[in-house]
Amino acid sequence: MSYLDTMFSLKGKRAVITGGAGQLPGDLAVAFAMAGAEVCLWGRGSSAPMSDAASGVREAAGPGAGRVTALTVDTGDAEACQKAIVETEELMGPPDILLNGVGGNRGKAPFVDLDEKIFAEILTLNLMGGLVTPTRAFARYWIAKGIKGTVITIPSMGSYRALSGVWAYDAAKAAVLNLTAGLAKELAPHGIRVNGIAPGFFIGAQNRALLLDEKGDLTARGKSIISRTPFGRFGEKAELRGAALFLASDGASGFVTGVTIPVDGGFLTDCI
Ligand SMILES: NC(=O)c1ccc[n+]([C@@H]2O[C@H](COP(=O)([O-])OP(=O)(O)OC[C@H]3O[C@@H](n4cnc5c(N)ncnc54)[C@H](O)[C@@H]3O)[C@@H](O)[C@H]2O)c1
Repeated sequence: MSYLDTMFSLKGKRAVITGGAGQLPGDLAVAFAMAGAEVCLWGRGSSAPMSDAASGVREAAGPGAGRVTALTVDTGDAEACQKAIVETEELMGPPDILLNGVGGNRGKAPFVDLDEKIFAEILTLNLMGGLVTPTRAFARYWIAKGIKGTVITIPSMGSYRALSGVWAYDAAKAAVLNLTAGLAKELAPHGIRVNGIAPGFFIGAQNRALLLDEKGDLTARGKSIISRTPFGRFGEKAELRGAALFLASDGASGFVTGVTIPVDGGFLTDCI
């Protein structure tokens, strides 16, 4: 095994990636499979069956990558998560990495006009389905089995700065950042690590309409973001892979817990 392999190889690891049919989690699944992990994608499979997502990851990861499977799971449903852990274990053996990729936003509104029903849905999606429900199921499973697992969460720039008009997303992602640290402390005695990756702005289904107009030109919000990003551009999804591999690998980050790594082209340095 090369030195780099001892640091970053995920051979022998078994990762569940929630929201695995999504843009960013799907690409992180490719990275994990290429690093040797067996990967099981969990997702709702609303537009296409989850098996399609698994085929896409398999194809992108290429020959020699870890095996990729998929399950249809609503990660906001505690019973479904518990059942899916058992099914995942049958598919690939006991999972020891959980990457919480579920999340998203819908539109924006002035606070006085916000639709409280949509607010509650987005809060629940990002906080419960995106962290609390699956992480609780995995923590209980790992503690019962004595598995020293690793959780990766996905906070956002909205965890640090109140991004205008996306109230529920900001509230949920601030909570995700906070719970990443809190859970790290609580689960450390069980050898379970909990860390996060906070992406800056990456064009995806959830934010395309906010950042680009129908012609593909930047909206006022898109321009404002680029002007506050020292690298002067949006991120490319593959730019999240390094941080994810680092956090997933015990060889590279075995003493790291409770941190969130911003991968944001410098957005958080914005100042006068
Ligand atoms: N794109 C960005 O710029 C950006 C920036 C910061 C953070 N993030 C976060 O990264 C994560 C992934 O974002 P993305 O842009 O790839 O989004 P995406 O919409 O492409 O992926 C999310 C996936 O989660 C699935 N999903 C939603 N609810 C689910 C549920 N209850 N159970 C199972 N699956 C469910 C969706 O079907 C989708 O496949 C999200 O948490 C998002 O908030 C994205």
